[in-house]
Amino acid sequence: MKKLLSTVACGLVAMSLGQAAFADADDHKLSVDGVAISTDAKPMEGGPLDELISGWRFRSKETQSLQTDDFDNPSFVFVEDGEALFAAVDGSEGKSCSNCHEDVAEFAGLRPTLPRWNEAKGKLYSMEQYINDCRVDRMGADKWKWTGSNMTAMTSLISLQSRGMPISVATDGPVAEAYEQGKEIFYTRVGQLDMACANCHEDNYGAYIRADHLSQGQINGFPTYRLKNAKMNSIHARFKGCMKNIRAEPYKPGSAEFQALELYVASRGNGLSVESPSVRN
Ligand code: HEC
Ligand code: HEC
Repeated sequence: MKKLLSTVACGLVAMSLGQAAFADADDHKLSVDGVAISTDAKPMEGGPLDELISGWRFRSKETQSLQTDDFDNPSFVFVEDGEALFAAVDGSEGKSCSNCHEDVAEFAGLRPTLPRWNEAKGKLYSMEQYINDCRVDRMGADKWKWTGSNMTAMTSLISLQSRGMPISVATDGPVAEAYEQGKEIFYTRVGQLDMACANCHEDNYGAYIRADHLSQGQINGFPTYRLKNAKMNSIHARFKGCMKNIRAEPYKPGSAEFQALELYVASRGNGLSVESPSVRN
């Protein structure tokens, strides 16, 4: 851990001295089992970025290639876990997801809109909350932990149904307040390294922190399988990891702060294609 942190710090010192190695995202094209998925998009007018690029384009050729074939993509072991969970009876009501949701394909189109306002609950909702509401209220089963393996298996399976569809979260109306809160968090310097998300993912994407090629910190590929920990990683787990790397006290997965940040970060990628479940290092 120490070593990683000092590596990060050194990389950043180098950046501020203007000595960091920069390299544009490559121009490789992603196609999965022969179906093309766009890895860049034109940003909306007035947005903070003048180009939108998926994190896939910043990864090594070897890592990229794992995502071009679902058979090679290690995420699919977990997607299969999700399929088994979808069919499994659990809880006091003796029900499985598939009793009510006949085909998981009915969730096509859901991932790109999340998080979004839940009118009935009167608050911002992420996919994890929809799933847990069904478990608790409709199945009489226990909640799954936000970043737990059952949850990420299920969010991988549900997100996959929207692969290739453009992200399009709403940022106005009832979610406007959360959007502003998320934006504030994104630009606020925190931690012992006194850095904001924007310092790395907006000002310095393309730079190398040693061997790690900094991306725009987009979430269009989540949940993502990381070679580093050999499992599916949720959006909030990734945010937590980045905050720890700058030696900040991270918010909790599922907290209002991380949900607001999820909404804001998702909106920065409005237009990018859903790539879930992706592979990263
Ligand atoms: C007893 C029936 C029932 C069971 C069992 C059930 N659900 Fe649901 N689910 C619903 C209903 C009803 C809704 C609300 C549909 C709506 O508002 O359009 C819903 C909504 C959802 C949504 C939000 C969909 C959207 O478009 O807003 C997700 C995601 C979801 N369920 C996933 C699951 C998963 C995963 C399981 C199993 C862990 C599960 N559900 C079990 C009935 C059920
Ligand atoms: C010190 C620089 C640094 C800061 C500050 C930082 N990150 Fe990161 N982040 C990284 C690195 C390095 C990676 C891995 C390479 C990449 O995808 O950029 C990463 C990856 C990510 C990813 C995964 C992208 C993908 O395509 O898989 C997300 C999302 C992300 N960061 C969000 C955030 C958020 C939100 C914040 C603020 C809370 C933040 N990061 C702060 C360095 C940073």
